[in-house]
Amino acid sequence: MRLLPQLEGLHSAESFAPEFLQAFFARVREVEDTPGLFADALRGRVVAMVFLEPSTRTRLSFEAAVLRLGGSVITVADPRTASAAKGEALADTARVVAAYGDAMVLRHTGEGASRLAAAVTGMPVVNAGDGRLGHPTQTLTDLYTLYRAWGSFQGRTVGLFGDLAHGRTARSLLWGLVALGARVVFLPAPGLDWEPDFEDRVLARAGYRPARACHPLLAAWTGREVARVAEPPGAVQGRLFAGEAPPLLEHLDALYLTRLQQERGAAPPSAYPRLEPGRLEDPLLRDCLLLHPLPRRGELPRELDEDPRARYFEQVRHGPAVRAALFLALLRSDRWSLPPLQPLPAGHPDPSLGLCPNPRCITREEGLPVPWRLAGAGRREFLCALCDSRLEVDYAGCRSTRRLHPLHGPAVARIQPENLRPFRDRQTALREGYLWSPG
Ligand code: NCD
Repeated sequence: MRLLPQLEGLHSAESFAPEFLQAFFARVREVEDTPGLFADALRGRVVAMVFLEPSTRTRLSFEAAVLRLGGSVITVADPRTASAAKGEALADTARVVAAYGDAMVLRHTGEGASRLAAAVTGMPVVNAGDGRLGHPTQTLTDLYTLYRAWGSFQGRTVGLFGDLAHGRTARSLLWGLVALGARVVFLPAPGLDWEPDFEDRVLARAGYRPARACHPLLAAWTGREVARVAEPPGAVQGRLFAGEAPPLLEHLDALYLTRLQQERGAAPPSAYPRLEPGRLEDPLLRDCLLLHPLPRRGELPRELDEDPRARYFEQVRHGPAVRAALFLALLRSDRWSLPPLQPLPAGHPDPSLGLCPNPRCITREEGLPVPWRLAGAGRREFLCALCDSRLEVDYAGCRSTRRLHPLHGPAVARIQPENLRPFRDRQTALREGYLWSPG
């Protein structure tokens, strides 16, 4: 096992490699089973909780984790009492916090906020929710709950239900589920689906295949009986022929419900779906664990709380141990090292690409040009390095030959990544002295 001297922070569930997750689950188990062993591990360490968006569970479970490890916390719990309310930029707030704490836990409305805070401070920053982009420690809690129930994720089918467009927990969970080889069924509420390029990118990275399945019950949740399915590599599935009905979705092993995220601009669909308790007798749900990041609204009726399949309060109970295991890896790597997270590629600051197209990106709030990175192993997709939005790029130049090519031409594949320079338009490149080379 390769050991990393110190995790540098946690920004996105895209970083979860299977070896990391397996080792992490074992560590959480140790923390839960033998808390006394860790009671002093963070003595003398200060963790800053900077919550610039509302939170109950997440903040308290991070605080409980630090306190149970013998460390101290300093907290901004209410955005109205922070200098952000006076218009302070996150980059400045982060530098101030870095002077007081050994690590920072950040919740922010700006997408990519934790990556920016880490970049300007160099301190370990944990993303506790950045806009609708991600919530990786919630995913660790969700996955750990399923791991305790199942051991392995192979052959398991998980449904993601509700407001996929605006929720961050389902987005993060998708990265985690594909890292561990589960099959995923997408069950967005009507009109509340995420953008297809996000799903395509996650599936492509993990070698998953898009498929479809149907069940009459799904119409009550999504408005359609047919759902998209992400099939793990190697899953035996017949090929669908044009016009052929998709196969029946026989059962779900877990259903991950999420609420309508009205604070992120989700207009309520005429009726947000709800899990009717009577449906749990259907073979589709007979052995299905029910998870929810909470808070809930009407989608998850309280009558289900005593059902043995309900696991949402168990998720809450695992929260502090999950976060404690993360702090041990971040701040006490001398004692508790873990296999590395997959690093997110570094962003290239490149003023010529202008602003990030995503109005919720933290760079827009901070007035910064978009830093870009390449998507996964593919060479032809450029993303904002902070919020992962796809950037419109039509041309690529080579810094060493100073030639400019159409992005989808054959020459681009031969440019070394460190020499690649994306351009939105030809004029900018020509002005910089690049030579147009259409071949
Ligand atoms: C989630 C969040 O903040 O994204 N809550 C949480 O962290 N437990 C889900 C939500 O607010 O709906």
